[in-house]
Amino acid sequence: MKEGMEILEIDELRKYCPLKWHDEIPEEGVGLGIADIDFAGPKGISEYISSRLSDHYAFYQKREGLKSAIMVANKFLDGKGIRNATVQVIPGTMVGIYTVMKYISKKNGNICVVNPIYPPIHFHASEEGNSIDWAGFDDQGRLDHERLKESVNHNTKLLAISNPNNPTGTLFGKQDFKLIRDLANDYDFLCFSDELYEPLHFRAEHIALGSIEGLQDRTISLFGFSKAYGLAGFRSGFMSLQFSDTKVVQEVVEHLLVAPSPITSFVLEFALGNDNSRKWVKEFRRLMASNTKKASEYLDDNGLQCIRPEGAFFVFPDVKTEDDEKFSKDLLKRKGVEVVPGSLFGPDGKGHVRINCATSEERLFEGLEKIVQFVNSK
Ligand SMILES: Cc1ncc(COP(=O)(O)O)c(C=O)c1O
Repeated sequence: MKEGMEILEIDELRKYCPLKWHDEIPEEGVGLGIADIDFAGPKGISEYISSRLSDHYAFYQKREGLKSAIMVANKFLDGKGIRNATVQVIPGTMVGIYTVMKYISKKNGNICVVNPIYPPIHFHASEEGNSIDWAGFDDQGRLDHERLKESVNHNTKLLAISNPNNPTGTLFGKQDFKLIRDLANDYDFLCFSDELYEPLHFRAEHIALGSIEGLQDRTISLFGFSKAYGLAGFRSGFMSLQFSDTKVVQEVVEHLLVAPSPITSFVLEFALGNDNSRKWVKEFRRLMASNTKKASEYLDDNGLQCIRPEGAFFVFPDVKTEDDEKFSKDLLKRKGVEVVPGSLFGPDGKGHVRINCATSEERLFEGLEKIVQFVNSK
């Protein structure tokens, strides 16, 4: 392992990474479920936070986050081609998902969701009383243009995507954005993109939805540091707001948090501005490109159809079952391997499971071999 990337032993993970390595995973088991990582994060985060702390932060800070952090976020957005965005610092992108769905629920119309997608996106949408129209991907894992055209209309108020997509690893391309832009303008809807996995793109560049001409005044994007920056526990991310109702969205955040903790802002500054962090992200991307490629090829070669991801750190094979929830439960019980049932990601996820590849190649293959054995034993 190169300097900067340190794989943790399982007993360390059981202590430090309790959501992923929880007690139901047996002693000889492999946790490939929850989207946390098996590596130590970039060095220097606690020193950085300590160096920035002061007793003066005993007071509520600005609703949008610390000015120093917003400057760093704006520089980052500029580099992504996102102009004239209002930045709202948030303690993790999950808060951004909730905020967007809460905000949009006050408007009439439906939400179009491109699925399979990270479950809280459609979950919060429905919980807040919104009706969903499902769009999806073709059998190569690309955005299905015809289906998207059929899934939006004058009643659509929001289109939701995740780019790179969790769980399929799809990167949206120029042609996809051209279609999205034309439809959003024809039908006058807002676009929402969860770009948490943004630095993890392997075979093509990541294009930010908010950088597309014609979408720069109707887009909400989310960025965060829980995955590609190895800082999940510190809870930090930000919203990039490019539309007229920015203040109303920020009010939802205010009603939820009053204001983010200054620590959330420090983590943003470190993630985007520190050299250790930059090196760590680069090395992590290289590893995830390799793990996802090898995992998808291995599964495919063993009869479990699996698209090679272009980003993020998952593979999403078809495991040849009608009931992926039962499959996942039985897999954990019989082989000690945890994965996430595909149905949770929306109707198109049925029959699939999500496998988290953010571990060593050795540990990943230990889990993959057990998954293949399990499928073959049925
Ligand atoms: C696409 C996506 N968005 C948001 C989140 C939540 O992340 P955070 O820790 O930034 O709240 C996750 C976590 O798995 C995710 O995969």
